[in-house]
Amino acid sequence: MSNKLSYYQEELNSDAIKDEFIFYLKEKLLFSDKDIYVDKDRELNKEEQNLIKEFIDKKKEGVPLDYILNSTKFYEKDFYVDSRVLIPRPETEILVDYVNNHSSPSMKVLDAGTGSGCIGISIALKNPSFQVYGSDYSEDALNVALINKNNLNVDNFSLVHADWLSSFKKAYFDLIVTNPPYIADQDSHLENLKHEPNQALVANDNGLGDIKLIVEQSTEVLKSGGMLMLEHGYQQQEEVENIFKSNHFIDIINLKDFQELPRITLGTFE
Ligand SMILES: C[S@@+](CC[C@H](N)C(=O)[O-])C[C@H]1O[C@@H](n2cnc3c(N)ncnc32)[C@H](O)[C@@H]1O
Repeated sequence: MSNKLSYYQEELNSDAIKDEFIFYLKEKLLFSDKDIYVDKDRELNKEEQNLIKEFIDKKKEGVPLDYILNSTKFYEKDFYVDSRVLIPRPETEILVDYVNNHSSPSMKVLDAGTGSGCIGISIALKNPSFQVYGSDYSEDALNVALINKNNLNVDNFSLVHADWLSSFKKAYFDLIVTNPPYIADQDSHLENLKHEPNQALVANDNGLGDIKLIVEQSTEVLKSGGMLMLEHGYQQQEEVENIFKSNHFIDIINLKDFQELPRITLGTFE
């Protein structure tokens, strides 16, 4: 078997994986364009070969690049990720952006189901006067969020182990944000998400079970006039809006994602 970069480049069978390979070579092996395109027939050393073989093996299993690199970009920051947490999605930045553009000072905010901590940490970093909490049921996820809290030096972000909103003080929060699991257990999209944790993705009641619990429980822990903001599937808007209405939320707004699909619902608790 050849140990030249050109050999491995020819092995890769899709343009998408070729692009990811180039990104990986630059990020992980610190290769320059010259290394990749001009000197591609030089002999690779053992460590380079091992890292390249590891990339190829993991891509054969369908592992997402962010897990291979243990890193993802969210709201302009690098977050550590591994298979204990969902890889943050670009559309979730829309939720963070909305909060950052519609906030008032010193708010108490909860990011329920914080996963990597991406939502809560991004809000905390932009709003130093806020007291932000990130909660999760999964201790594994909380350990990943702690890595990100420490890496990004976020003082106003605290982690809490909790089953949704059950262990928080009554009428405590000004704002609750959440990107809960919302995929139905028979959904065909799950086949492409098999490397991400099931408890981050799947909810009972046709994907609405956790959303219903969060909306109901939020009426206990939100202050009157507080806001709940929730990401959901693009086909769930109408049902989510009805759940908000039947739990005394008013001024309900929906935000669309980058494909103009309804993905985030927010409302004010009366
Ligand atoms: C879709 S992921 C969102 C992760 C992260 N907030 C993001 O946007 O990338 C849902 C998160 O909810 C957490 N979760 C699931 N059931 C929960 C429960 N009963 N109580 C608290 N968190 C829960 C999962 O562990 C997971 O981290």
